Amino acid sequence: MSTLRVVQIGCGYWGPNVLRNLAAHPQVELAGVVDIDPDIRAWLAVHYPGVPFAPAFDVGLLDRWNAQAVVIATPATTHFSLAGQVVKSGRHCLVEKPLAMTAGECEELINLAQASGVALMPGHTFLYNAAVTKMKKIIQSGELGEIYYAHAQRLNLGRIRQDVDVVWNLAPHDISILLYWFGKSPTRVAARGATFIQPGIPDIAFLDLEFPDGQYASIHVSWLDPHKTRRITLVGSKKMAVYDDVAENKLTIYDKGVDRAHPEKATLGRFEDFGTFQLRLRGGGVTIPPIDFIEPLRVEVAEFVSAIHEGREPLTNGASGLQTVLVLEAASRSMEQNGQFVKVEDSF
Ligand SMILES: NC(=O)c1ccc[n+]([C@@H]2O[C@H](COP(=O)([O-])OP(=O)(O)OC[C@H]3O[C@@H](n4cnc5c(N)ncnc54)[C@H](O)[C@@H]3O)[C@@H](O)[C@H]2O)c1
Repeated sequence: MSTLRVVQIGCGYWGPNVLRNLAAHPQVELAGVVDIDPDIRAWLAVHYPGVPFAPAFDVGLLDRWNAQAVVIATPATTHFSLAGQVVKSGRHCLVEKPLAMTAGECEELINLAQASGVALMPGHTFLYNAAVTKMKKIIQSGELGEIYYAHAQRLNLGRIRQDVDVVWNLAPHDISILLYWFGKSPTRVAARGATFIQPGIPDIAFLDLEFPDGQYASIHVSWLDPHKTRRITLVGSKKMAVYDDVAENKLTIYDKGVDRAHPEKATLGRFEDFGTFQLRLRGGGVTIPPIDFIEPLRVEVAEFVSAIHEGREPLTNGASGLQTVLVLEAASRSMEQNGQFVKVEDSF
């Protein structure tokens, strides 16, 4: 496979992790790094000597650095403008989550990327996490039965952002995971948030997602919490499961549930006799599926490079970036309407 010359834009908190994984990929050559912060450029000069850097992005840089692909790790509000210029210039583009700040912007990026024949990939890192992909396989195997509901918690003290609220900062992770696990988008979202630290920027939020067929999910995000929590509980008709990203055992399957005494007699409607509807609680064993854990960003970068070389869509593509943003938009509208349910717009 030939080498891919990649430029990275933005190297603040998350960017150095991306850059380390780009540098470690055998088919990637770092063509240059752009960051507007002089302290970051001083750090780059020490840690990546020999890699050119620049204080501002312009498309001419990509020509001068002979770049074929760009990774964007700047604040979310800059994604649309930067990614638009990148894909228009015919370069493949990996954009950190969220893909952009509105569904309209996402659609424009998708159209521009299609017109240029380049890959557009949102960095939904958790979809490259081995525990998340293992859970998807467990769901698909039918072991949990029909999925009833999911409860996601993503809490910590900090990093408090000024450019986006807690929903746009943290919930893209849980939304992208739930869309992947459920295999569909919610139809309606209700969200309430509360603001304590900076005016107009909610610090905590609770989202309710209604899926077709009665499935339901709730998401609690907060950057004002004493405990770092990254947990999603899944309740199915046969078993229950917990994905805990900060635990040593990231996945636990509980053989717990509610069984009907005589399922063959059960009808959907009226109670015919008491015995038919006797419910039994089942509290069986616990299993911990083994996971071969690889740093998710390493897998994400590898997927970006492979998708480009193979001329195919990456696992997370423009459409999945758009679907996540449609849910975020509905959540923001609901918060403005004091928690009313808001329809999730269809993607195009
Ligand atoms: N996938 C994940 O798990 C994950 C985790 C954290 C952050 N992120 C995402 O990564 C992105 C960056 O987040 P962060 O926490 O590193 O933010 P940050 O503010 O710490 O860093 C952003 C960097 O971009 C630079 N920058 C800003 N505007 C620029 C521009 N126009 N041109 C060049 N450089 C510019 C800043 O100087 C800064 O160094 C965000 O989209 C965020 O949502 C993803």
